[in-house]
Amino acid sequence: MATEQTVLFVDDEKNVLTSLRRLFYDDGPNLLFAISGAEGLEILKNNNVDLVVSDVRMPEMDGIEFLKQVKTLYPHIVRIFLSGYADKKAVVQALSEGCAQQLLAKPWNDEELGNVIYKALLQAAELKSKNVGLQRVINSLSSLPPMPGTYMELRECLSRKDTMYIDRISAIISNDTAVSAEILRWANSALFGQTSRVDTVERAVAVLGMDIVEGLVLTQSFFRNLSDVSVKIPGFDLADYQTHTISCGILSRLLIRKLSDNTEDADRAFTAGLLHDMGKLLEQNFFTREFKNIISAAKQRNTVITEIEYEILQSTHEEIGSQLAQWWNMPSFIINVNRWHHKPHLCSVDMDIVAAVHVADILVHMFELGSSGNFRIPWQDHEIWLRFDLTENMINSLKDEVMKSLPDQESAASSSG
Ligand SMILES: [Fe+2]
Ligand SMILES: [Fe+2]
Repeated sequence: MATEQTVLFVDDEKNVLTSLRRLFYDDGPNLLFAISGAEGLEILKNNNVDLVVSDVRMPEMDGIEFLKQVKTLYPHIVRIFLSGYADKKAVVQALSEGCAQQLLAKPWNDEELGNVIYKALLQAAELKSKNVGLQRVINSLSSLPPMPGTYMELRECLSRKDTMYIDRISAIISNDTAVSAEILRWANSALFGQTSRVDTVERAVAVLGMDIVEGLVLTQSFFRNLSDVSVKIPGFDLADYQTHTISCGILSRLLIRKLSDNTEDADRAFTAGLLHDMGKLLEQNFFTREFKNIISAAKQRNTVITEIEYEILQSTHEEIGSQLAQWWNMPSFIINVNRWHHKPHLCSVDMDIVAAVHVADILVHMFELGSSGNFRIPWQDHEIWLRFDLTENMINSLKDEVMKSLPDQESAASSSG
């Protein structure tokens, strides 16, 4: 952690500030303290702050209002809520509006608090050190999209694992019609081998398991927040994009079995495949004109879109997608898959999942299942490809399996409506 980094803590209870001061006494970032939102804003005017951690319940200006102002005035500062259980509803709402990237529960566990702050400072440092292109891209987004509400609630519930948590998770999902339809659709797909019809959310959660459910909630919320059907870009169709990412998810799950028999890896590979091209939806949404030019230039010059992205945006969908994944505090394998799926040799963690998505992406392009906006098959890492030891027969049967596992289009249409 760079020592010149600065954290501002805001809490109206002096004893809380004292314990925070003690916690970071020995080493770490520079610390600043404020006992009210107004004092916090005054400090921010005169100091270069990287991270703000704020209490929620404070007289006059509460933490939600305070972090809203920080977000507007200093969008580059990473923001964290420190809150008690009683504030849960308002805080989840504020998080879904992007007031802060994270929530830390009060009373806190010292180690967890230290880790969260450490990671948030790394994120702040990385934001500062990004290449000029990505920096420009990030700065021109007035703020990155907020983390989707249903996903926030689910994460919050998972972090407070108690005996009732499966019931509570089913209730959260049932409140969101589109997410419920998506969960049921997958629980009934051939991929999860169900023979009898699954028709309740509770059963679907049990069939799919928490890793898959979390991935689907995230994918569904992400797609709903960012896909804008009114934006028409020749060569980039949202339904085709969805078929591309769904096929990639299915294929990554099948391929990773070649490298690992761990079911957790298989579930993660599925989610990673679904979310590997998040950056393209951000480009379609926030850089529509540039994205239009990228797609048409790639077609004209018969090259992959990553090459043109560098020329036009000085950044790529890989960098932009991984930035959003960090912003939403997604698991590391989603950040790494977004960042490295076209350059797997540069990745040093979550290697198997990144490798599976890299090969799945190429195969899905070869099979012409949907479209990611690329007219060319992406570059193939030969060494990674060899790890899967694929024969022509195997490739053909993988194609059949993907086709068989695609959830039926009728229920897909009703769930996206
Ligand atoms: Fe990609
Ligand atoms: Fe892709």
